[in-house]
Amino acid sequence: MAVNENDKNIIWHHSTIKKEDRQKLNGHKSLMIWFTGLSGSGKSTIANALQHELYKNNVSVYLLDGDNLRHGINSNLSFSSEDRKENIRRTAEIGKLFVDAGIVVLAAVISPFEKDRLNARKIFPAEEFIEVYVKCSLEECEKRDPKGLYKKARNGEIKQFTGIDQPYEEPENPEIVLDTNQLSLVQSVELLSSYIFEKVGLKQNAKE
Ligand code: ADX
Repeated sequence: MAVNENDKNIIWHHSTIKKEDRQKLNGHKSLMIWFTGLSGSGKSTIANALQHELYKNNVSVYLLDGDNLRHGINSNLSFSSEDRKENIRRTAEIGKLFVDAGIVVLAAVISPFEKDRLNARKIFPAEEFIEVYVKCSLEECEKRDPKGLYKKARNGEIKQFTGIDQPYEEPENPEIVLDTNQLSLVQSVELLSSYIFEKVGLKQNAKE
């Protein structure tokens, strides 16, 4: 019988329909693909294109994008290290529910701190958490500056900006590294989709 660590009076209620049943219904396994990297590194763009590729191939997939979550469930959080920790915790817990529902989840969040990413990893079975480091130099991200935020951070208009006045800790043991200084979007998506198709037990065939 599982009890809540903080409150022993909260006891886990078992569902008669299990993750495996939902995976069977969907025709594939479910897992969390966690994208981490600097703002502007390409996380959201790659995750969105990957989502499209998986969807085309009949995979039940859902994208949890950091910017979007910060419009709703995480709208009360700032960019302090404490709030980022909570942002990552919530994103991971939401992702866990989706994985339990049989869905392939793509989470695109800067998640700059190794400890927070490890905590996210810990709540999943080992084979269900894939960390993808979207690697891109600060120089290149700043050059791209798709939202004009680096410029604002350099001017002091935005504080605690990752890579400028707050650190980004590179992942120590990511399953996949995508160097977006070198790889095209198509190459990144191809690499990831073939990896995921094998992981979830499907064959990739749809072409557009
Ligand atoms: S995380 O660090 O807590 O994982 P998250 O991915 O949710 O960050 O949000 C990052 C997005 O918020 C960036 O893509 C950027 O558009 C925006 N943003 C606004 N302020 C900041 C900041 N201080 N640091 C980083 N990103 C910021």
